[in-house]
Amino acid sequence: MNRITGSTRICGIIGDPVEHSMSPVMHNAAFEALGLNYVYLPFRVHREGLKAAISGMRALNIAGLNVTIPHKMAVIPLLDKLDLLAGRIGAVNTIANENGELAGYNTDASGFLQALRAQGVESEGKRIVILGAGGAAKGISFILAEAGASLVILNRTLYRAKELASQIAQDCQRKMEAMTLNEANLKRAFDRADILVNTTSVGMTPDVDRSPVPGNLLGSRLVVSDIVYNPLETRLLREAKAAGARTIDGLDMLVWQGALAFEKWTGQKAPFEIMKQAAIKALQDEK
Ligand code: ATR
Repeated sequence: MNRITGSTRICGIIGDPVEHSMSPVMHNAAFEALGLNYVYLPFRVHREGLKAAISGMRALNIAGLNVTIPHKMAVIPLLDKLDLLAGRIGAVNTIANENGELAGYNTDASGFLQALRAQGVESEGKRIVILGAGGAAKGISFILAEAGASLVILNRTLYRAKELASQIAQDCQRKMEAMTLNEANLKRAFDRADILVNTTSVGMTPDVDRSPVPGNLLGSRLVVSDIVYNPLETRLLREAKAAGARTIDGLDMLVWQGALAFEKWTGQKAPFEIMKQAAIKALQDEK
């Protein structure tokens, strides 16, 4: 554990619940590895306590916070500066204390782009199929549209997919398609698709035998990513690998979101592998 001194800088996560967050172990491992005098703490903050928590961040000169459910939207009006993309997405997961000014970012979205890049996958000009239309889909869809991809959004509830597609079309001036998530539409969407992103919870523990996509539709020319990281290898990723596809797991995205936050708080390049190993160990210890 890092040695706490009079000049230790504090980072942390606010949310409710925060008990199962992997961020404390990831960030503390990273601080220790780089010998930085920082510590990262979990803060359980109820909805009613959010305003006071942000005032506290100012008063205590906390260097950075991650923000999780249920505060990602509600925190925005309490900040001094907002990154353009975080504003469009309407959600902040990272606050950096920049000389007393609190700046909001969305590294969930930029972390996803970084996870693709780390695999040598660029999004510009690519055709990307997104499964789901919730909060996670929104961030990922906005950043991919910004990066110049064209998107097809498939969701169980069609109107949510349509709503997200039209919002992106309006803000990013790009044409987006929306369809109901079913086998026939998956087949159609996969025609000419380069990348598949699952943002639904299908396949997550305890639902490990389910996949949002029938395995026979997966082929080797797709890059397949899944935001689910519990289990680390979902049925979708297992079947994608078996079909010869390249895969990106949910932990890569989680660690990249942390790595980008770390860089904002410390100004140093994050030790990605150390953070990932710490997260894997924490996942194993939870079992
Ligand atoms: P998050 O913020 O993590 O994206 P969310 O906003 O609750 O969470 O969104 C969950 C997504 O998973 C939604 O797209 C949801 O589909 P609906 O909009 O139809 O609810 C999708 N989802 C959850 N369970 C599903 C299931 N069993 N089959 C298909 N889609 C599912």
